[in-house]
Amino acid sequence: AKIRRYKWEVKYEYKSPDCVKKLVITINGRTPGPTIVAEQNDTIIVELKNRLLTENVAIHWHGIRQIGTPWFDGTEGVTQCPILPGETFTYEFVVDRPGTYLYHAHYGMQREAGLYGSIRVSSKEPEPFAYDYDKSIILNDWYHKSTYEQAAGLSSVPFQWVGEPQSLLLNGKGRFNCSLLTTPSTNVASVCNATNPECSPYTLIVIPGKTYRLRISSLTALSALSFQIESHNMTVVEADGHYVEPFVVQNLFIYSGETYSVLIKADQDPSRNYWATTNVVSRNATTPPGQAIKARKGFIVPPPPTAERMIVFLNTQNTVNGQYRWSVNNVSFNLPHTPYLIALKDNLLHAFDQTPPPNGYDFKNYNIYNVATNTNVTTSSGIYRLQFNSTVDIILQNANTMTVNNSETHPWHLHGHDFWVLGYGEGKFDIYNDPKKFNLVNPIMKNTVPVHKYGWTAFRFQADNPGAWAFHCHIESHFYMGMGVVFAEGIEKLGALPSAIKGCVHR
Ligand code: C2O
Ligand code: CU
Repeated sequence: AKIRRYKWEVKYEYKSPDCVKKLVITINGRTPGPTIVAEQNDTIIVELKNRLLTENVAIHWHGIRQIGTPWFDGTEGVTQCPILPGETFTYEFVVDRPGTYLYHAHYGMQREAGLYGSIRVSSKEPEPFAYDYDKSIILNDWYHKSTYEQAAGLSSVPFQWVGEPQSLLLNGKGRFNCSLLTTPSTNVASVCNATNPECSPYTLIVIPGKTYRLRISSLTALSALSFQIESHNMTVVEADGHYVEPFVVQNLFIYSGETYSVLIKADQDPSRNYWATTNVVSRNATTPPGQAIKARKGFIVPPPPTAERMIVFLNTQNTVNGQYRWSVNNVSFNLPHTPYLIALKDNLLHAFDQTPPPNGYDFKNYNIYNVATNTNVTTSSGIYRLQFNSTVDIILQNANTMTVNNSETHPWHLHGHDFWVLGYGEGKFDIYNDPKKFNLVNPIMKNTVPVHKYGWTAFRFQADNPGAWAFHCHIESHFYMGMGVVFAEGIEKLGALPSAIKGCVHR
């Protein structure tokens, strides 16, 4: 295995990803940042220098389990203190499995400012499919308002929603129609320039007859996307780092935090160009292909047949002192200042609420089709402590938002683990009957899974990775508004924490 070293400088710069000039966060002058290309079992060392001048930073390696290095998960408030302006912090971890992964800021809403990129880990073993070329395509949505304006709106009374994005980006490039910029006093030409090369579309030049593996991932702030290539079918072969039974699609539906590999064959008329496009799928879109995905024969890791614990997470929208919040079992999550990993290891009991949040909700009486009546839920920094090595079932239960007859899809992402997706359903999860229908034969493993409108999603995982791990909705504004929880397990198994993560803790 190799050691791969990167030196990154993170700073604000003016860029025009969709032809509109905006302050964005770059890594070595680029957004998205450089793609990390490695082989299974390589060690990645990223020496990160924070040149944001007045802003902290932390970078999360999305999909990398950080076995033995929970302190390098990059989640501010959970696994590390933030990296202060001017500071350098070195991440060091092993990419132990082949697959398609991501990295992105995990501090405030910085991901949306452009601080993200792809990780591609090649396999040491022969793969169950063949291709000639391997490319990464990262999808994102893009707002013209700064993350600060957005965060301020979200925390205001009355609430100001961030709204739909202005553009969609494919490998950091999009195209906003400059004539739609209407701010009267601005000189439009200086802000929006359709001929700026920074927004010229990403082009993939293909050789006729060759097969391409495209690693498609989404890091949208909000949108659920569909991706397609004109006149070409795509064969899905991998999801979140796991091989799947191949299936063919024309449109790939993808939620924020998910990754897929598709194979395409350049077998159409070579004298013309084909557009690869992405678009927002209505948040009313029905059944995504995710439900049909099965683990690839020969690569199935069977789930344990039973679980020791089941936690049901009711997803609701509520208010707290007039502010709009998202909550889980009527608790809206607050990130503490002292990272949980440090607080747990060093027994700093004052650092977070010691009362664990609830294991479920009142499923007999609660009507998921109504606006929640509890308009003043509690906020808490309490966590779920899991028995080390135990098997845990999580049921995500969706419900109505604060708007009558409205429910939203939430893509939930688990740090530090993969999980088996055991089932999906509509309406209220039936604790007695639905588990009988779980797929225990060939469930796909993932790290991000959607829970659909008024539906439920069930998954199982093994709490076998000592550390403190975030589990949250990957919609940037939803996590900011409290849609997350933290699991902790096996803390006693950990050796001394590196002092580099402890900058904000004073005793
Ligand atoms: Cu990609 Cu905690 O998220
Ligand atoms: Cu959400």
